[in-house]
This record gives sequence, structure tokens and C-alpha cells, in this order.
Amino acid sequence: MSCEKEFVKKVIPGVKNIIIVASGKGGVGKSTVAATLATSLVMQGYSTGLLDADIYGPSLPVLFDIQESRPIVIEEAGVTKIEPIIRLGIKLMSIGLFIDPVKAAIWRGPLAASGMKQMIDQTEWGELDYLIIDTPPGTGDIHISLLQEYNIGGVIIVTTPQTLSTGDVQKAISLYSETKIGVPVLGVIENMSWFTPEKHPEEKYFLFGKGGGESLAKRFNVELLAQIPLNEKICEECDYGKLLAVLESKGIKDTFANIIKKINQELPV
Ligand SMILES: Nc1ncnc2c1ncn2[C@@H]1O[C@H](COP(=O)(O)OP(=O)(O)O)[C@@H](O)[C@H]1O
Ligand SMILES: [Mg+2]
Repeated sequence: MSCEKEFVKKVIPGVKNIIIVASGKGGVGKSTVAATLATSLVMQGYSTGLLDADIYGPSLPVLFDIQESRPIVIEEAGVTKIEPIIRLGIKLMSIGLFIDPVKAAIWRGPLAASGMKQMIDQTEWGELDYLIIDTPPGTGDIHISLLQEYNIGGVIIVTTPQTLSTGDVQKAISLYSETKIGVPVLGVIENMSWFTPEKHPEEKYFLFGKGGGESLAKRFNVELLAQIPLNEKICEECDYGKLLAVLESKGIKDTFANIIKKINQELPV
């Protein structure tokens, strides 16, 4: 007799593909990648939503400069519906729009997971080609709930080149590749791969080591989707809600166009 549980994975009506952006580690650029990816998808004409599932450290309100926005909540015949905030054409939802992140930071795992599920289920996403979910660091309740309960199209793993970072990230890839609840790993994005000074565009400084993303991809037999350089502008501009300015850089724009091409091959709409 088998005691393994079968998981019935929920499909969100109208949403064609859900993509998780994850990493074992914080500060590697998950939120930056998730937000830039969502913006690039919309610029290419895909209807896109972005859910910030980082209950403990939501960054979407800052990235899109919507800290003061409050989503409209409608109660209808005992059913709660939440209108997403729309910026740059992206349907956005974040726990950071409802509660003080300091309060959320003390939520225990199960409460955090149920908060995340409410946001997914109650938001009026409408018709979406892609719903991107930005996740907290680690491999906790939020990640496991997402995998057990929703029909996820694939996961993109973000890492920096250091061994330590890739070591943590290996745990995350192992979770996502798990046979029972795992989902396709669409590939690895190595962020902060090198630094190129503006005045010396031919030079590359590998400040955080070299080759971590590539060796990680090889080890798990997945694709290295992109290497994104460390860029002073990304840091400044994302802090001020100016993602469009980031995508004015031809290098970044092309990098994300390439990532979308690969996503689109795996998860067509
Ligand atoms: N390629 C990059 N170049 C410069 N700064 C970056 C880059 N990627 C991310 N950052 C900055 O690093 C910090 C952490 O990024 P973030 O996306 O919040 O990471 P995570 O979501 O993994 O915790 C932010 O201040 C962000 O603006
Ligand atoms: Mg983040």
C-alpha cells in the first residue's frame, strides 16, 4: 500500500502559464529579474501578471513605486475579490500593499502560505498569458504550497556566481526537481555576473567569482538562460520604480528578449 499523497493542482481560470522565479538565497536579484521579465513580456504584447509572494520582504511595491496604492477589495455573496494594481500594463499584487511588512515578518510559515494563497485565488487576474510569481528566499512553506497546490508551468532559478550562492541555490533546484511535486526547471539566470565600468565598456570585472551559473546549470542538466551584469543603473533605477529605464539598455533588453524566446518555446501561449 502506498502512503504517498496525490496532489490535485489547481488551475487559475484564465491564466495560461504560471512561472515561479526562485533561488535558495536572498539578495541575488529574484525580484529585479521577476519585475524586469514581467515588464519585457508586456512590452512584447503578452498579457502578464506579477505576484509578489515574498511575504517577509515584499519588494514589488518599491519596484513599481506603488507603496501608496491600496487594491480595491470587493465582497460579493461571501466571495472576496481583489482588483490588482496595474502599472506598465502589468497586473500587480503584493502582500506589501495590504499590511505592514514588519508585521508580516513575524508570521509563521502556515499563515504566510495561506496569505499567499488568498492573494493568488482572490485576485481578479482576468486573461493572462503569463503570471510571474516572485518568491522569498529559501525552500519553505510558501514554495512547497505553491508546488503542491497550483499547476505551475515552470521555474526560473536566479543565482549569483559565488559558490556559496550556488550552494544554497542547489537546494532550491533539488526541491523544484522533486519527482512528486516538482515542476520543469526552465533554466538558470546568473545575475551580477560581472561589472563593466561605463567608461571602459570593453572591460569585465568578475567581482563575485566566475562560472557559478554555468556549473549549476550543467550539474542539474538545465539551461543557463542568461548572464546579467552588475549595473549601477539597475540598482538606482529599480529603487525608484523605473523599470522602463532599465530596459532602455540594449544589453538588458536583448537579454530578456532571449529569455522570453526560451520561455515561449517551453510554455507557448
Ligand atoms: N544586475 C544588477 N546590478 C545591480 N544591482 C542589482 C542587480 N540585480 C539586482 N540588483 C540590486 O540588488 C538588490 C537585491 O536585488 P533583489 O532583486 O531585491 O534580490 P532578491 O529578490 O533576490 O532578494 C536590489 O537593491 C537590486 O536593485
Ligand atoms: Mg525579492
